[in-house]
Formats: sequence, C-alpha cells, structure tokens
Amino acid sequence: MADITTEVLVIGTGPAGSATAALLSSYGVENMVVNRYRWLANTPRAHITNQRAMEVLRDLGPEVEREAMLHATHQHLMGENVFCVSLAGEELGRMKSWGNAPLSKAEHLMSSPCEMNDLPQTFMEPVLFGAACRKGTQARMSTEYVSHAQDDEGVTTTCRDRLTGKEFTVRSKFLVGADGGNSLVAEQLGLPFEGKMGVGGSMNILFRADLSKYVAHRPSVLYWVMQPGADVGGIGMGLVRMVRPWNEWLIVWGYDINQPAPVVDAALATQVARQLIGDPELEIELLSANTWTVNNCFATHMQKGRVFIMGDAAHRHPPSNGLGSNTSIQDGFNLAWKLACVVKGQATARLLDSYSVERAPIARQIVTRANQSIAEFGPIFEALGMDGGVDHDKIQASMAARCDATEAGEAQREALRKAIEFKKYEFDCHGVEMNQRYRSGAVVTDGQPEPAADRDMELHYQPTTWPGARLPHVWLFPREGGQVSTLDLCGRGQFTVLTGIGGEGWVAAAEQVGKALGLPIRTHLIGPRQPIEDHSGDWARAREIRDAGCLLVRPDHHVAWRSFGAAADPEAELMRVMSAILGR
Ligand code: FDA
Repeated sequence: MADITTEVLVIGTGPAGSATAALLSSYGVENMVVNRYRWLANTPRAHITNQRAMEVLRDLGPEVEREAMLHATHQHLMGENVFCVSLAGEELGRMKSWGNAPLSKAEHLMSSPCEMNDLPQTFMEPVLFGAACRKGTQARMSTEYVSHAQDDEGVTTTCRDRLTGKEFTVRSKFLVGADGGNSLVAEQLGLPFEGKMGVGGSMNILFRADLSKYVAHRPSVLYWVMQPGADVGGIGMGLVRMVRPWNEWLIVWGYDINQPAPVVDAALATQVARQLIGDPELEIELLSANTWTVNNCFATHMQKGRVFIMGDAAHRHPPSNGLGSNTSIQDGFNLAWKLACVVKGQATARLLDSYSVERAPIARQIVTRANQSIAEFGPIFEALGMDGGVDHDKIQASMAARCDATEAGEAQREALRKAIEFKKYEFDCHGVEMNQRYRSGAVVTDGQPEPAADRDMELHYQPTTWPGARLPHVWLFPREGGQVSTLDLCGRGQFTVLTGIGGEGWVAAAEQVGKALGLPIRTHLIGPRQPIEDHSGDWARAREIRDAGCLLVRPDHHVAWRSFGAAADPEAELMRVMSAILGR
C-alpha cells in the first residue's frame, strides 16, 4: 500500500510543473507536486514571457493573468535592444525588439489578446504555484523524487522528505517529470536524446545598482556588450539584463568550458560588472552569483507508458530567444487536458500518445533556434573585424575605422547595420513563438493541405484554422457588451464548436455527441442577432470556413478539426472526429 494516492504526481514546481498542476486542478483532476527545495526559484532566470505563454495564464483565469501583469515589466520598456562597448561607452547600434517595432507591434496586437512582457522567474513561479495550490493541488516542498516503478494500472513513486530523511511512496495513475535540465525522471526512463550538454560556460551575476543614467533613455531588457572575452562561452556577447527597471540586474558573462568553472566571488563579480557597465567606481550590491552551462540537447520522445517529461527535462538550451519557460508552460497546456480526459474516463490512453508526437518536434525546433541565435552574433563580430578573439586595441581601431569617410568605412557601417538587423531572429522572432502546429492522432485534417507559408515562418505568425494550428485570435462582441477574444470562447478544459448562421445543426450535434461521450462540448454560434457578433468582420476573414461550417477547438486552443460548410449528418461527423481524437 502506498502512503499517499493521487491521480497525477508532478515532480518539480518550476514553470512546467506549476503550470501543469494549476491546469490539472482547474480541470478538476486531483494532483500533487513535489519540489526538493523549500521554496520556488531563487534567481530570476527566465523573464521574456511571450503571448502564447500568457494565453495559458489567461486560460487559468483572468486573475492569474492580472497577477502576472501586476509584477511584469510591460512591453514598451523592453524594446531598445542595445549593442555597445559598455553601458557608459559607445553604442554600436540597436534594434527594436520584442514586438516594439511598429510593424511588429501591429502583428502582436493582431495575434493575441495577451501582451508579451518581462516577468522574472522569481515572480512567475509564485503566480503559477499559487494558482495551483488555490485551485486544489497538494504541494510538498523539501521533498525529493527518488525513483518510480510503473505497472498496468499506475505508477508507484518513492520520494524522500528532506526534513526527516524518511522515504514515502505515492501511488498515482500518471507521473510527470518536470524536474528541470538534470531530470532524474528522464534519466531513469532512459528516453532518447539528441545533441550535447555543456557546449559553453556562463556565469550569472545578480546585483542591485541604480543604472538609470545609462539606460532609462533607451529602455530595454537586454544590453549587449562587446568586450575582450565576449566571444568566449556565454550566449553570444556579454549581457547586462534588466531584472527590475532600473536598479536590479543580471550579468551573463561567458567562460571557457574547457577550463574549470571560475569561482564567482564578490571581487570577480564587481570587476565584471564595472567592466561591462564601464564605470570603474561602480558599487554593486551583490545578490548572488553562480555558473551554468550552455546546452544543446532535446528528447526525441517524451513519454514512456504512464510517465511523461516536460520543460527543461525534455529541452535543454541557452536562454537565447527566451523560449525555455514559455515552452515549458506550453508543454503543460498540451498534456494537462489529455491527462484530464483519460483520468475522467472520457478518452483512452491512446490520446496520451499524441503528447510526445506533438511536443517533441517543438523541443527540437526551440533547442535548435536558441543555439543558432548564439552563432548568429558572428556577423557582428565580423563586421567589427574580430575574427577569433576580441582584442581591446582591435575593437578600438575597428570602432574608429567605422567612422571613416571611405569606401571601407561605409562598407563596414553597412555590414554592422545588417548584422544587427539579422538579430531579429533572436529578439523579434514572433513566428517561432506563435506558429506551433501539431500533426498527430489528436488532430483530424481530413486530408486538407497545410497552407503554404506566405512569409518567413520564424519571424511572422501566420494565422490559420488548418487543423493542428492554434485558433486565430480576433475580438468578437457579445450582445451584452464588451469584447471577447476567440480564445476566451474556448479552452478552460473543454472542447468547443464554433459555427455561424446556418450552423445550428453543429450546435445540436455537439450536444448529442457530448452526452454520448460523457464530455460536454461547448458551442458558440457567431453572427448577427446571435449571442456573439462579428461586427468588425475579422472573424469572417480569419476562420477559413463558411458561415454554416464548423471549427472544433481543443481545450489547448488548437483546432482539432474543421468542416468548410454544413454536413448532411453533423452528429455522425462530429462523433467520428471526437472518437478518433479521444482514441475511442
Ligand atoms: P525548472 O528547472 O525551472 O524547474 C525544475 C523543478 O524541479 C524545480 O522546482 C526543482 O526544484 C525540481 N526538482 C528537480 N529535481 C528534483 C527532484 N529530484 N525531486 C524533486 N524536485 C526536483 N526561459 C524563458 O522562457 N524566457 C527567458 O527569458 C529565459 N531566460 C533565461 C535566462 C537564464 C540566465 C537562464 C539560466 C534560463 C532562462 N530561461 C528562460 C530558461 C528557463 O529558466 C527554463 O527553461 C525553465 O526554468 C524551465 O522550467 P522547468 O519547469 O522545466 O524546469
């Protein structure tokens, strides 16, 4: 007999584990999380929070999104991505980033009801963990995962209470390993990984100092510094990152991975801070310092039987593009509703196979993108004439040469401009954040071809209702007033049918199929004199179906299936599709 029983046990209270627990609780699934430490993140690692991750928080409830925004630094203070020789020194150039360039801003506004923002992990984790506990999650801190054994009916997990040293067992139907980049769950499962750990060395220096005079006129979250040593390890260049405007900062500075990791004491931390900020008298209040390694590694499969891995346990990569915590939260959004359907007996275990099929390609994509972004600092070094090693005198000479009224000077200015503009693939890469599309047994395309990319899919979000894609956001208008996003009409643990005038058959079918399968399907009929109206016509332009057509949307906002127009037997159609998705 196990000491504790629960439906789902989650290891880890990072962004992945806390989000999953919160979602499970909001779907009414009993769950428990454990964390080996007594509290949550103690350093502000992740911060760039993209629109898709915010949509998950919004789905957890407006109060969760509001709480996050209360702590976040808003988008308009994120955007002047500066490249310089030091904060006090000469600026090499800058690029408007994170949706702050006017055209990009428009794309952000049109893509989502949520705003990208900067929310350090020290704030994000309590928001998600608090939501989980408030909604019903049982949390055990200072509790370490040790091992697990699974059988046909469930998983028995051994944990150790670190306060007493005593081991105890938890019996659950499913186990989720959200235990970070050194995941013991992943290791014990023996899941396949591609890539390499430890490809570069980095140190984090967290400190307080009022740097307003260097930054307030060019507000940004990231200030990139070209200094001798900037090309060694690290994440492309030296980085001074805003944690709180403008008096709390995190420096990321590389070290040679082939040498032992440096001991970052107060003296070294102060020296690096003075060097990157360019103020030899600067006094800092050192909060913490540590070293970490740059990884380039992802799981090609994220499940074994009743056990799943997610977050950094499955994708291990540098912070470039700010994808880690965001993707971890989205892993949770993908898995939680599937677990809920299976736990409630609404779906068979076959639905769970779609988790790895859908999320492993994303793991590969984001790990590859983040590592590529480090390499893409290369053209900036080249434009400044640094071909291996960053030498102080060379930097000075090169900086001077770029001011010459010569052909060479002009060519160098042009090369530097282009090299900086090219960094939009790291700092304004909206497509990577928003274009995730799934192909799996939990999506029914009926052979409809995927729409061709009309622009660079890494840079730009391309809305479509092609099954597998995220439901496009547009604002719609309830009869009683106000506006709601299409995403607000869906989610919260339920499948949703969206249709229009002439689609009454789909509404009736959804009710019948929902009853037959024991899983209520929400419906919205959108059109004139209906409860939800499309006054602007944006929905008619976005939906890619006719008024009497049907979009079936999964609880994670991804389109499960669509019918272009009315069907002869909508109930049979919907039953066919729902049965396929649920594995029944
Ligand atoms: P995470 O590592 O956060 O959590 C793991 C959890 O498991 C912890 O609670 C831990 O205590 C627990 N645990 C581990 N082993 C255990 C055991 N045996 N028993 C019990 N508990 C155990 N991402 C992003 O989206 N935007 C960004 O801007 C950045 N920026 C950034 C900057 C820097 C400097 C770094 C180092 C990283 C980032 N990231 C980021 C990445 C981000 O921090 C990372 O991807 C997420 O924390 C991953 O979340 P997880 O929940 O998967 O793991």
